[in-house]
This record gives sequence, structure tokens and C-alpha cells, in this order.
Amino acid sequence: MHESEVRALVESKLATIPDFPEPGVVFRDLTPVFAHGPAFHALAESLTAPFAGRFDDLAGVEARGFLLAGAASALCGAGVLPVRKAGKLPRAVIREEYELEYGTAALEVHEGELAPGSRVLIVDDVLATGGTVEAAARLVERAGWHVAGISVAIELPALGGRERLGGRYEIHSLLQY
Ligand code: PRP
Ligand code: ADE
Repeated sequence: MHESEVRALVESKLATIPDFPEPGVVFRDLTPVFAHGPAFHALAESLTAPFAGRFDDLAGVEARGFLLAGAASALCGAGVLPVRKAGKLPRAVIREEYELEYGTAALEVHEGELAPGSRVLIVDDVLATGGTVEAAARLVERAGWHVAGISVAIELPALGGRERLGGRYEIHSLLQY
């Protein structure tokens, strides 16, 4: 399917919720896309297509990135590195703290989960301020892998994620709002 058709299909299912989870936030909800087989399939395919032949594994960021990375993995055969919120992984981890609007949060990956030097495509649903994928990218690099790129379903350019990442990584987004 051509990317413009994927964009139209995903956009036709996407839900937009004003003032969630707090006043002033326009929440972009992909759950109706996940619930529609053809739209989910097309979205998952579109995340990896621009990076074809240039990555070995996918990193999915908890929680919504897990769905996308898992679906994309089933289509392209790549492995998935789960990038988890702190305290969930049972073996030795590498941890990165990152800033949220209020306070900090932390993401973790298992050391040695992927082969040394693996080229990792980071997948998530939304790129907003970029704090989440920036932390994921640091984890990938600290673990001894390479960031092949960042692929998201939705980018919110007004929140400055792309600028925050400063041209360090190739970023692909299907939809921009
Ligand atoms: C959301 C979204 C991205 C992140 C984007 O995750 O799924 O991971 O925010 O925001 P940023 O670019 O400003 O970092 P959230 O932390 O709400 O977790 P969830 O997927 O578990 O709901
Ligand atoms: N993550 C950060 N900002 C978001 C938004 N506006 N909608 C959905 N997920 C988000």
C-alpha cells in the first residue's frame, strides 16, 4: 500500500480527545487503529518500510510502542528489544532517567539482549517532546548497539521532539499534527 493510502486509512480510524489526560492536552489515541486489522497491519508495515535493509532489530517503548514493534516484527522478522519502565525487567539492566512535565521517569533495557553492534530501529506511537525516544536512543547506544532510526505513527511538531533530537537520528513519522 502506498504511504498516502496508509496515512488516509490510519487517519480515518484515529481518535482525537481534547483535554485528556489533563486540560489543554489534545490526546491522539491509536486504539481504534489497533482494533481494525487492515489499518493496524498497514501502520505496522509503514513504520519499517523507510528503513528496509538498514536495521536488524526493533526497540519498542512501553506501553504503546510494544504493540507497534510486536506487529512490525511479525511482518519483517526482526527481533524486539522491550524498552521498559523502571523495575520491570528481571535481569541486569541499563537505566536512563528522563524528564516528564512533572518530575522524572526511567526506562530500562536488559544488558546484552541483542547481538553486539545490532542496528536498532526505535518504534513508538507518538513523538511529542522527544524525551521518551531520546532516553531509548541513549539506552541503545550505552548497550553497545546502533540507532538505525526512529519511527513513530504520530509526530506533534509543536512540542519540539525533532529539534530536541538535534538531527542525530533519522526520524520518520506517518502523521503530523
Ligand atoms: C506516551 C507515548 C510516548 C511518549 C511521547 O507514553 O506513548 O511513548 O508519551 O511523549 P514524549 O515525546 O514527550 O516523551 P507514556 O509515557 O504516556 O506511556 P504509555 O505508552 O505507557 O501510556
Ligand atoms: N504522548 C505525549 N503526548 C501525547 C498526545 N498528545 N497524545 C497521545 N500520546 C501522547
